[in-house]
Amino acid sequence: MARLENKVAIVTGAGRGIGKAVASHYVREGATVVLAEIDETLGHKLADELSAGGATAVFIKTDMNSLADIDALVGQTKSDFGRIDILVNNAAVTKSLGFFDVTEEDWDWIHNVNTKGLFFCMQSVAKIMKEQGGGKIVNIASIAGKGYPATSNIAYAGSKGAAIAMTRIGASSLARHNINVNSICPGVTRTDLYYEVMRGKVASSGKSEEEIISALDASIPIRRSNEPGDIADLAVFLASEESRNVTGQSWNVDGGLMWD
Ligand SMILES: NC(=O)c1ccc[n+]([C@@H]2O[C@H](COP(=O)([O-])OP(=O)(O)OC[C@H]3O[C@@H](n4cnc5c(N)ncnc54)[C@H](O)[C@@H]3O)[C@@H](O)[C@H]2O)c1
Repeated sequence: MARLENKVAIVTGAGRGIGKAVASHYVREGATVVLAEIDETLGHKLADELSAGGATAVFIKTDMNSLADIDALVGQTKSDFGRIDILVNNAAVTKSLGFFDVTEEDWDWIHNVNTKGLFFCMQSVAKIMKEQGGGKIVNIASIAGKGYPATSNIAYAGSKGAAIAMTRIGASSLARHNINVNSICPGVTRTDLYYEVMRGKVASSGKSEEEIISALDASIPIRRSNEPGDIADLAVFLASEESRNVTGQSWNVDGGLMWD
């Protein structure tokens, strides 16, 4: 039997990269998936692709910086499908910035989506999960939140540290309602965002993209950066019954870059 049969999942930022891989793995495991995405073209395209394969996958345009959008997403999912079993808080933004270059505008842009949006989406979904007697929340944090120095910028690292802390507090607040809250902390993962950050590092360092990427790969103990599916595999486990007694943890998928 598929591991997420009859489950209803919301995946934020599902249009590309890690979110797209998670949504695709969830569909493969039998879940109904709501694709919450700001980019309409990406959202419609993935919903069409997954539906063509026989899955129930719908796109709901959502800006994770908007509490009204988050409430509408949760309300519509509940009214269309009757329940919400899984939330994957994946949407996030960043760009390559030096310590002295971070502006207030950068800070607000990053924290509005990565920190505020993540919390209020957990809160809104947890209300439904509490009423139905349980659920699974998976926050996509980052090893940046544990101090990985080669991150895109300090404001982003702070937002991911916040995601890890809110995973712990969320887990302890929601455990009595049978709601598990865990984080995944990806390391270097080859997505569009990764290539955007690499291009920013090229501009600031004067090195070529190839030089930066090969130095980065060489720094990974297992000598291999992640594909989005490496994150999605763990996201399936954390959404399944197999992880019923796992909560409040932040799991690194990084080829051995960080140890805590
Ligand atoms: N790629 C990496 O190396 C890496 C490493 C560590 C952590 N992560 C984390 O993994 C997650 C996914 O990263 P990715 O590399 O797939 O990124 P990505 O930029 O390739 O994909 C992110 C998706 O989120 C959507 N999105 C952006 N802002 C949004 C908003 N306000 N509301 C709704 N959707 C929005 C984008 O349109 C896009 O489809 C993020 O939380 C990121 O911080 C990525």
